[in-house]
Amino acid sequence: DTAEVIVLGAGPAGLVLGNLLLASGVDCLVVERADREQVQTRARAGFLAANTVRILDRHGLADGLHRHGREHTVCEFRTEDGRFRLDYGALGLGERHTVYPQQELVRDLLTRYLDAGGRISFGTEAVAVVGAETLRPTVTVHDTDGRPARWQARYVAGCDGRHGAARRSLPTCAVRRHHRDHGVSWLGLLAEAPPSLDAVGYAVHGRGFAGHMARTPEVTRYYLQCERGEAADAWSEQRIWDELALRMRSSEYGELHRGPIVQRTVVDLESDVLEPLRYGSLLLAGDAASLLSPSAAKGANLAVLEAELLAEALVDDLRRGDGTALDHYSARCLAHIWRAQAFSHWMIRLLHGPSGSDPDSLFHNSLRRSRVESLRVSRSQQDWFAEQYVGV
Ligand code: APR
Repeated sequence: DTAEVIVLGAGPAGLVLGNLLLASGVDCLVVERADREQVQTRARAGFLAANTVRILDRHGLADGLHRHGREHTVCEFRTEDGRFRLDYGALGLGERHTVYPQQELVRDLLTRYLDAGGRISFGTEAVAVVGAETLRPTVTVHDTDGRPARWQARYVAGCDGRHGAARRSLPTCAVRRHHRDHGVSWLGLLAEAPPSLDAVGYAVHGRGFAGHMARTPEVTRYYLQCERGEAADAWSEQRIWDELALRMRSSEYGELHRGPIVQRTVVDLESDVLEPLRYGSLLLAGDAASLLSPSAAKGANLAVLEAELLAEALVDDLRRGDGTALDHYSARCLAHIWRAQAFSHWMIRLLHGPSGSDPDSLFHNSLRRSRVESLRVSRSQQDWFAEQYVGV
């Protein structure tokens, strides 16, 4: 099989890219390991930044999120010093989030792509990108029946996440990998229960962080800081709800709406950036390009932003013979990526107390308290927070 662009991965990055290329008449083929049902039911992120909505609007990809998404503008901090709310929609640039589960967005993007005649090969695992240093790179794949094949393109877009074939195919001498393990783990939970507060909740507690994020009127995401290496099944539903109630201080601030826990995964908070995001004919976007800790909910938003930049650059090159934007693609994305990394790093230090083994734990805990206090009292700090929190 051949195409002008082969896109690896049908997540937000790959599907925005596929739609934009198709709309400009570029012949592309999306290669996706999972089947269609898996792709459009995987629950992940859900907070779309104002700029993400503008991008999707610009390309007519936002109907579903306007119809079913809900605007969100408030977060609430709960600590040993009390609680306060920030109406971030009225601070900074005055921008809002739209809460729309990522699998719904993926479903919309996929439907649009297929309706427009887009080609996608589900159940097909990309194994490697070969010859990225040439003008005719190929992708080796295993199809649904495990049969090997080799597909050729002019460009390959690696949107296949952190463990995908694109990253694996980069020679180590050509790309530098920045990696930071923040030493903190979260148990990510999806509960079949309505949200417990009308805000994103961030609770800092001596027993660890707890977070609350709305998804839909019936489903809520929670996070509990846990021990590194702890198994997700080690937590019974009773223990999860009791611990959430304790850390979110529900006896003081209101009970949580409990319900069955339908998904649980342990996430180690890590940051990871590849530099540059291009090796010859292979370009990276989304999680394949950089991984953010979930502390600031920026991953999906960056993925959409990068996909638009990449689509424009590829169209310039393939349709007008102008490779300038493609040459600048990596540097433009990295500027956004490092800003997002800086903010999510700041959030991690805001939300977590020192670890048990830290000899300076009292010192670090006092710093952490004082960071939260600055955010409570300083209007300029709040404006900065709001701008960073919703911005990409
Ligand atoms: N071959 C084919 N497909 C693959 C391969 C492979 N070798 N490896 C992974 N994939 C597919 C996955 O099945 C998945 O559908 O690539 C897709 C990658 O999609 P995402 O993980 O959603 O990544 P991306 O599009 O970059 O979206 C980024 O969304 O939820 C947020 O925080 C998340 O930051 C992440 C963001």
